[in-house]
Amino acid sequence: MRTQVGIVGAGPAGLLLSHLLHLEGIRSVVLEARSREYVEQRVRAGVLEQGTVELLTDTGLGDRLHREGLVHHGVELRFEGEGHRIDLSALTGGRTITIYGQQEVVKDLIAARERDGGDIRFEVEDVAVDGLKTDRPTIAFTHDGEHGTLECDVIAGCDGFHGICRPSIPAGELTEYDRTYPFGWLGILARAAPSSDELIYVNHPRGFALSSLRSPEIVRLYLQCEPDEDVDRWSDERIWEELHTRLATTDGDYELTEGPIFEKGVAALRSFVVEPMQYGRLFLAGDAAHIVPATGAKGLNLAVADVRRLSEGLVQLFGSGRSDLLEDYSRACLRRVWRVQHFSWWMTSMLHRFGDDRYQHKLQISELEYVTSSTAAATTLAENYVGLPL
Ligand code: APR
Ligand code: PHB
Repeated sequence: MRTQVGIVGAGPAGLLLSHLLHLEGIRSVVLEARSREYVEQRVRAGVLEQGTVELLTDTGLGDRLHREGLVHHGVELRFEGEGHRIDLSALTGGRTITIYGQQEVVKDLIAARERDGGDIRFEVEDVAVDGLKTDRPTIAFTHDGEHGTLECDVIAGCDGFHGICRPSIPAGELTEYDRTYPFGWLGILARAAPSSDELIYVNHPRGFALSSLRSPEIVRLYLQCEPDEDVDRWSDERIWEELHTRLATTDGDYELTEGPIFEKGVAALRSFVVEPMQYGRLFLAGDAAHIVPATGAKGLNLAVADVRRLSEGLVQLFGSGRSDLLEDYSRACLRRVWRVQHFSWWMTSMLHRFGDDRYQHKLQISELEYVTSSTAAATTLAENYVGLPL
């Protein structure tokens, strides 16, 4: 088989890249290891930056997003039993975030590719890339029991942190930077009315908590736990009890509404970056190149920023044969990647419990008091949270 851009991975990065290229008349094939059902049901985060919403809207993917997405103008930081609202819009010239589940974005992208005759192969196996330093790189794979080889001009490695593309780059060509955190998140989805109009990030002596939502009927809540926590040791009663404790306010005004939990899982928190994000004709994008802890709600948005820049470079290459944008791809992306890495590490450091380190806790409270009382500090949080212009 032959195509212009071979894309490994049908997560938000791979699917959006295929869509953006299609709009510019560039052919691509997406190879995905899992089934369509799996990638459409995989529960992930759900906060879209303003720039992400604008890009999806400008490229014809805004209908359901604007119908079902929830626009938020603020976020709450809660500590020592008191809530403090950060007015994101007032501090950023009106910019907002939109609550819309990542799997909804994936569903919209797959539907658009299908509508536009896109080529996505689900449930492929034995994917292997080769010839990365030639002008005809290839992707070998097995689909429906048949071996195939996809000959490409360029390969986009959008296969996530555990994919095959990054490890296919010879040792010594890449530099890895990482930080693991001594905790994880236990996340639930429950059928309950949200107990607040906006997201609540909590610093509590028993550990971090986050109150988020998916719709007026479905809430998404998180609790800091051990990185290898056994979710089976958490009954629904225990989860609600701990959420009540960590989200409680000293004035007693806040009431957390419970409901049937229909999804729960534990995820470790890590920060990871690989440099450069390119090797020959292989370009890494999204989680294949970088991971952020979920505290800043940046994973999806950073993947979108990568593929927007990659598609611009590919449009230039296939349009005019020039490759200066592609040659600058890694440097340009990494500038945003490290900004987002810093913001996500900062939010994580400010809001989580680090064992019994009382000095750290005092520093956190001082920082939270500063961020919630100084316009300058609140603006820093707000402009990073809604997303710096793409
Ligand atoms: N062959 C084919 N597909 C693969 C392979 C492989 N060897 N390995 C992984 N994949 C697929 C995965 O099944 C997944 O569907 O690549 C896709 C990668 O998608 P994501 O992990 O969602 O990564 P990305 O598209 O970069 O999106 C980043 O996802 O994890 C969240 O928080 C993260 O929000 C961020 C977003
Ligand atoms: C979510 O809604 O899943 C969510 C929101 C904010 C975060 C992380 C996850 O920081």
